[in-house]
Amino acid sequence: MVLMGIIGICNAILLVAGLAWCSVLPSAAGQGPVFNVVDFGARGDGITDDTEAFVRAWTAACGARGSSATLLVPPFKSFLVGPTRFNGPCASTRTTVLVIGTITAQPASSWAWAGKNYWLMFYQVDGLTVTGNGGVLDGRGHTWWSNKCKDDTQNCIPEAPTSLVLMSCHNAEVSHLTSKDSPQMHIAVITSRTVSVTQLTITAPGDSPNTDGVHIDRSENVQITGSTIGTGDDCVSIGPGCRFVTVDGIVCGPGHGVSVGSLGKNGAMESVEHVDVKNVHFINTMNGARIKTWPGGRGYAKSISFTNINFTNVDNPVIIDQFYQDRGLPNMAAVALSNITYTNLQGTSSQKTAVDFDCSGIGSCTEIHVKYVAITASDGRATEARCRNAQGDTYGYVNPRIPCLIS
Ligand SMILES: *[C@@H]1O[C@H](CO)[C@@H](O)[C@H](O)[C@H]1NC(C)=O
Ligand SMILES: *[C@@H]1O[C@H](CO)[C@@H](O)[C@H](O)[C@H]1NC(C)=O
Repeated sequence: MVLMGIIGICNAILLVAGLAWCSVLPSAAGQGPVFNVVDFGARGDGITDDTEAFVRAWTAACGARGSSATLLVPPFKSFLVGPTRFNGPCASTRTTVLVIGTITAQPASSWAWAGKNYWLMFYQVDGLTVTGNGGVLDGRGHTWWSNKCKDDTQNCIPEAPTSLVLMSCHNAEVSHLTSKDSPQMHIAVITSRTVSVTQLTITAPGDSPNTDGVHIDRSENVQITGSTIGTGDDCVSIGPGCRFVTVDGIVCGPGHGVSVGSLGKNGAMESVEHVDVKNVHFINTMNGARIKTWPGGRGYAKSISFTNINFTNVDNPVIIDQFYQDRGLPNMAAVALSNITYTNLQGTSSQKTAVDFDCSGIGSCTEIHVKYVAITASDGRATEARCRNAQGDTYGYVNPRIPCLIS
């Protein structure tokens, strides 16, 4: 909040007096030193590669002692940057990257991508804030998507980069930014603790491959809140090893919904617990509330809740799929699902099957609790639930009726 106030002041000063941004900010802010990428040689003309200047500015900001330091990406410019690692640990308690202008990725054709699966990666930076006030990360995914691998024989790019990666960053925040057209996932939070992702706008075309909005992996205490996400894959995906994740206040669509998983690929032992998804509106998405596990996996996913969820014309509003990307053999080992609660779900389904619990064997999905559900078909017809091997109960009005659960 303090920071937003400062930005407001600086915007006003900029407009009125046309003063240099950098010289205004520190005195107005009392936020510690500010390192403007322009002062480190960045051009921001959208043509010159500014990667080196960003690295120099980061080295200075990260090395600054005190309670906080800020790396500033100033407004009204577009900075062309290739794959870059911003390494910690940093000397100050809080290191802020304030993106007010646009950062644009090098196109897929650049040599700089060789061997890199990230664009902007923060590594081991505790107390990191990446924030903006109109700031944009433009991943230029269009230059990648046309080269998507269709089969092994083609000369193609197998793994496109993720736009923004927080790896092993504890006590971090990503806020007030727009991320668009990432080559692959937009934001990935990996092996991190206590992370807040809030007030973001994430956009990519509905048919762009693997462009998940926010992906969380092996992390705990992560909050994704107050954001609008529309991409070609999951709006939020919660992967293996995550605990205490909250997703609250998201508008999702187009995309594949909010997913827990996929878990247990190649027989892996994986676990996820304490995931709360609430106040989400899915609009024209392929899935809504989804849990997906691979046949043959081991481990568990438990204590997961979906609360206050609205669906507008969603293909599969509520889905548990223990046969992800594989029909598998029934009664095969599976990541055990338990204590899964759905409360207060309403809206429309584009297909007749609005609830689909497809579990691999008896005992693989237990303690499924469903309360207050009203999902009708978009065309006004009745919906139905399909279930295999799911155990649990329903409470209150539940439409469609779920025959395998006790009411
Ligand atoms: C869901 O729809 C209801 C009724 O229109 C509305 O009151 C509620 O705010 C909506 N919630 C979300 C998360 O969109
Ligand atoms: C079930 O999950 C909820 C969160 O959704 C949690 O509060 C509760 O303690 C869990 N119950 C059991 C028996 O694990």
